[in-house]
Order: sequence, then C-alpha cells, then structure tokens
Amino acid sequence: MEEFEERTARILVRINELAGYSEDLQCLTRTFGSPAFIEAGKKVFMWMTQAGLHTSIDNIGNIRGRLVSADKKAKTFIIASHIDTVADAGKFDGTLGVIMGLDLVENLIKSKTAIPFNIELIAFSDEEGVRFHSTYLGSKVVAGTFDMNILNKKDAEGITLNEVVKFIGGDVGKIRGDAISPQEISGYFEIHIEQGPILFERNIPAAVVTAIAGQARIELHFKGVAGHAGTVPMNMRNDALCAAAECILQIESIAIAQKNKVVATVGKVAIRNAASNVIPGDVTCSLDIRNEDEKILEEAMQKIKQVCETVCNNRAIIFEWELIQSAKPVACDERMNQLLEKAISDSGYEMIKLVSGAGHDAVAIAAIAPVAMMFVRCYKGISHNPLENVAPADIKASLVIAEKFILNFISKYNA
Ligand code: HGY
Ligand code: MN
Ligand code: MN
Repeated sequence: MEEFEERTARILVRINELAGYSEDLQCLTRTFGSPAFIEAGKKVFMWMTQAGLHTSIDNIGNIRGRLVSADKKAKTFIIASHIDTVADAGKFDGTLGVIMGLDLVENLIKSKTAIPFNIELIAFSDEEGVRFHSTYLGSKVVAGTFDMNILNKKDAEGITLNEVVKFIGGDVGKIRGDAISPQEISGYFEIHIEQGPILFERNIPAAVVTAIAGQARIELHFKGVAGHAGTVPMNMRNDALCAAAECILQIESIAIAQKNKVVATVGKVAIRNAASNVIPGDVTCSLDIRNEDEKILEEAMQKIKQVCETVCNNRAIIFEWELIQSAKPVACDERMNQLLEKAISDSGYEMIKLVSGAGHDAVAIAAIAPVAMMFVRCYKGISHNPLENVAPADIKASLVIAEKFILNFISKYNA
C-alpha cells in the first residue's frame, strides 16, 4: 500500500499546484479562457506529455492526452473531468478527476499493462459555464453536440465566446473536427467529489453513481418602471425587484412542496442601473432547476413559470422567461457500474449507489458513449466553496478502487 500512499501524495501536490492558477488573488476562480485557465492548461499539458501521452489542446481548450493501443482498430476509452472552476471555488471540483485519471494512466504505462483500447485522458475546458452561462462547452465539442450558435454569446464584459476561442488559440472552423464519433468510443469514466453529504454521513470513501439529474438553466427578466425612491407613492410603483423577490420566494415554496425531489436556485440577481434612490425598473435573475426525473422537472418548470407570470400580472410587470440551457437526466452504464460496484466491494468498502444532483461532463458524453462515475467523499459534502476538502485517505481509497475498476474493465473488455 506504500505505493498508493506515494501516488496519493503526488496527486495532492498536483491539485495544490493547479489551485495556484486563479484569476482572483483572493480566492480560487478559474473560468473558461482566462489567462489563469490557459496557464493551468499548459501545466496539465506538460504532465500528460511527461507521462508519455500523445497530448494536444483542441479548439475549445480541452487538454487531451492519448495512450494509443497497439491495436490499430482499437476503440477509445475516455477518462476525464474538468479544470475550470466556479468563482471562489474549492480546489477538488473537477481537478480531482483529471489528476487521479492522470495517475491511473501513468501507472498503466509504468506497469506495462496491455490495453485492448486507446485511452484518452481529457481535462475539459468549461463544465461550470460560469462565463457564458452555458455548461459543458468542452465535453459537447468532444461529443459533437456543440451548438455553434452560442459562439456569439457575450460574457459580462461583452466579449463573445468566438473571441475567447480565438484568444486561447482555437479555430472555430475546426471545432467540429475535435469530436470523437460514437463508433470510436468504448466508454467514459469520471471520478468526481460527491458535492453532497451522504458519503460523509455514512463514513464511506466512494460510491457508484447510478444517474445524473436533469437540469434547466433559465433567465428570468422583470421589466417595471424605474422611478424616484422619494416621490413615487408605494401604490403607484412597478418595482421590478419586489416582483422578482416575490417570485424567488414562490419558487422556493414550490421546490420545498416537492418534498426535496426538485431543487430550484436563484443564484444571480442583476439590477440594471442599480442605485439606492432609484426604484428598480429592470431586474434579471438566473434560475437553476433540477430533478432526476424528466417529467417532474418539466412539471416544476411549468408551475414556476405560471406563478411568476401571475405575480407579474398582479404587479403590472413585464415578465420574460428564457431557457438558456437544459440537460435531460442521464442513466449511468449498468455493465460498467457492476465492475465499479465489484471494485468497491473487493476493496473492502460498503458499496452504495447515489444519484448525482450536480451536473458533470458525463452528461454531455452520455450522448455518444456509456458513462460511469465514481463519487469521492468530500468534507461535509461542501463544494462550490473554498472549504471544499478531500481527506488523503479517501483519495488513496478511491485510487485503489478506481485502479481495480480499470483493470476489471480491461480484463472483461473482450470477454
Ligand atoms: O452546476 C453543476 O451541477 C456543476 O457543478 N456544474
Ligand atoms: Mn464539477
Ligand atoms: Mn462544479
């Protein structure tokens, strides 16, 4: 087990090194296409190259390292996660899967394990969608499902996605060529922190993911009438922010009424021309709704939309609802999950199965390949927060399990 101790230590050194690449000196923020993102990508590129992988950066900034099989007709197995982060992030979300994946591949090379397929290790460039509010940009390019129309989307500074692709050295005309065809892929495996409290509560280091919840990202727009805070009587106002506030509390009640089966979050509120002495006339909110069942998700969306329309009618506010991005729930692959379940049990741990409320790049890749995910316990389930943490013992336990899973997958591959 000495070997796994050393490998765990090396994984943590690399995770801490990557955490040093941030566009914010006060905290870890590494969003798609920023200089910090580019530098972090170069570091991952170097590690992949040093490991002996055929490494490239594709036109959307994914860092891709290939271990090529001797069999020229071999399919490709992808091991991946993402290296972009949310603002004021933890250092394990995404990065853990990339760096553990690199370690697993390095050890397959070191042990000269015969592999009946190519392995492609990918550090995806934009899973969070922080900058352009549309997730899975990197993994959608690999899946061939990237929507070229969003190249004109602008970030908060008015810079288009098209310009950022150019800034990172990509060529939008070649993005289609970065996709892997479904016929070429044998499977996808992603290691990721749970970002929830169950493994921490159950004192278990890892779990099998059975499904990934569907999600919808919507932009709510409330148009009222800006006015003087001192002169407009309360009963003559069209206060866009009060309308938004009433809707936000109604959204919370609707989600709670679903007995936690639905989660709904308003994470961003923007008041145009905000000032303390001006009645807000124009407010935009983000809305994130999730559920593992597509029908329940759709019903919740419709109910929330109706309630917002009613609130705004009563307040003489113009209400606009714009669906920015949606992803159907994804079922993970039964056959790979059985191998992962066996790897967990054979490693001496209680095997539990979880549904992921968080989205992952596996959702995008599920369009072209069977996917499997392993969750790793994180401290109290905290994530999207600088307190996010993973105990070295859990990295080591997950590494033992993941290596057993990969070797199981190899041995069963042509069976
Ligand atoms: O939003 C999510 O579920 C993921 O962290 N991008
Ligand atoms: Mn993530
Ligand atoms: Mn995340």
